[in-house]
Amino acid sequence: MNIFAIETSCDETSASVISNGTDVKSLVISSQTSIHAKFCGVVPELASRAHIENINPVIAKALSDAKINFKDFAKKIDAISFTVGPGLSGALLVGAVAAKALASVYKKPLIPVNHLEGHLYSSFIENPLKPPFLALIVSGGHTELIVVEDFGKYKILGGTRDDAVGEAFDKAAKMLGLSYPGGPIIDKRAEQGNPFAIKFTRPYLKGSWDFSFSGIKTSLLNYLKANPIKSQQHLNDICASFRMAIAETLNFKAFEAVKKFNLDKIVLGGGVSSNFLVRRMFLESGKNNKIKIFLPSPIYCTDNAAMIGCVAYLKQKKCGLNYNSLQLKPTPSLVLSNW
Ligand code: KG4
Ligand code: ZN
Repeated sequence: MNIFAIETSCDETSASVISNGTDVKSLVISSQTSIHAKFCGVVPELASRAHIENINPVIAKALSDAKINFKDFAKKIDAISFTVGPGLSGALLVGAVAAKALASVYKKPLIPVNHLEGHLYSSFIENPLKPPFLALIVSGGHTELIVVEDFGKYKILGGTRDDAVGEAFDKAAKMLGLSYPGGPIIDKRAEQGNPFAIKFTRPYLKGSWDFSFSGIKTSLLNYLKANPIKSQQHLNDICASFRMAIAETLNFKAFEAVKKFNLDKIVLGGGVSSNFLVRRMFLESGKNNKIKIFLPSPIYCTDNAAMIGCVAYLKQKKCGLNYNSLQLKPTPSLVLSNW
């Protein structure tokens, strides 16, 4: 089954042709980073406008990369999927309108996909794994620990009480005078720094599966007030120590949960799962504890339409194609729910 997928939940306009949930025929991602960098965060109105400009060229390129043209679209594509939420409302709307237009012109079924499920199953594209497993979604908007009992059957253990983990990286980068998005910049600098130079708080919140990253941020702020940055090496040491505190917290909570729920796999997804230290630490702890670790390639960690098409494939396999397509509305605060 060939699915044409569209993702526009935040600041990436993406489209993909994906066959049977795993064979990515094309994937185009147009990032708006340069537009939002000067504001140190995503500006919703600018994001919507950029999606409007980008959506048609991105769709055309995804089709041509998959060697499909608009004449043979109906013959080669079986269904269309799009991110229905959560995300920025104007941004979601652009993807939804494009998907609905294609579905109604070519008379194809339309499959709505929850963005969080995109991150949750993004590893599946390269490693078709079977539930049950523990999933940790770590992105700019979410930090969620979930037991995936079956496809579309979730037990949500916890989430963040304040900042999402990617947001904490981005805000820390701003405090350090670094650019946006801050996560990859801190990560790169951290590779050159000493992770034991400064001891930032580890918010383990023992007894709860929730996360809280505002404490680490405050401890960074207090440290910077008392110790202004004096050299590039000092900055790299701060980045390395901050990254270490976050990676250890994620690692601690995920391994506690996997043991508690008697699972043998941990699946990561979302932008922060491309963090070098997070990846190394999870792989190492996985080896020591005999837990299999699934990490998407960096292109599937970030927001991308292939993961949306992958979920659409899994969803239709389990639930069929019975959506009332043109009634579907983007839902900015959509939560994870069972199929
Ligand atoms: O999943 P994603 O692309 O978009 C959302 O759904 O939010 O995640 C973006 C977030 C940003 O906060 C970015 O700083 C963070 O992921 N990020 C990283 C790294 N790469 C991206 N954080 C830490 N280390 C990285 N290497
Ligand atoms: Zn995302």
